[in-house]
Amino acid sequence: MKKINVNYEKMYYGFPIILISFYDKNGVPNVTTLSSSYTLKDMVVLGFSSKGYAINQIKEVHDFVINIPDSSLRKEVSFCGTKSGHEIQKFDAVNLTPVKSSIINAPIIEECPISIECTLTDIIEKDAYKGVTNILGTIKGRLISNEYLNTDDTLNLSKFDNLLYFGDGVNKGYRYMKNEL
Ligand SMILES: Cc1cc2nc3c(=O)[nH]c(=O)nc-3n(C[C@H](O)[C@H](O)[C@H](O)COP(=O)(O)O)c2cc1C
Repeated sequence: MKKINVNYEKMYYGFPIILISFYDKNGVPNVTTLSSSYTLKDMVVLGFSSKGYAINQIKEVHDFVINIPDSSLRKEVSFCGTKSGHEIQKFDAVNLTPVKSSIINAPIIEECPISIECTLTDIIEKDAYKGVTNILGTIKGRLISNEYLNTDDTLNLSKFDNLLYFGDGVNKGYRYMKNEL
């Protein structure tokens, strides 16, 4: 396979899009779009641009929810990924409903089929990666819509309909998972 060297600003090779919801310091719900995440057992890692509203609130309030939107929420994903909580309360402007979690102090997004309740454990900020804040969190609970479950409550993988984010910093966009299993 012949390859050439490229000098991209970024190389996003298909990351699931997630919506991070939280109550800010004043108890007001807000939400942001992210594609930088992974999870291993009860640990999650999220990557934020350090100046964003969401990360600076989560650093103080600690609890947050990772919500997995499906493809019907593409417009909401774009809105929450271009507007900042520094300027607006995004839940007032999009068709997403925050519902308080029963186990942590953060809102679950009603319209998302999967929500993962988390609490911050570590903040990683390094001179070598100026402007980037990584956080580690521990998973306290997992909520999954009936539609995604088999009769024995295991995951029905064929139902997944989430969005993947690809790009090189200049050319960027979404692809859908639906019917591709
Ligand atoms: C598809 C998509 C993926 C994104 N992924 C990230 C990400 O992984 N990390 C990040 O800091 N910002 C990401 N963004 C940008 C933020 O969502 C955006 O800067 C947002 O306005 C920040 O909001 P806040 O200031 O309320 O936190 C993404 C945006 C989109 C549309």
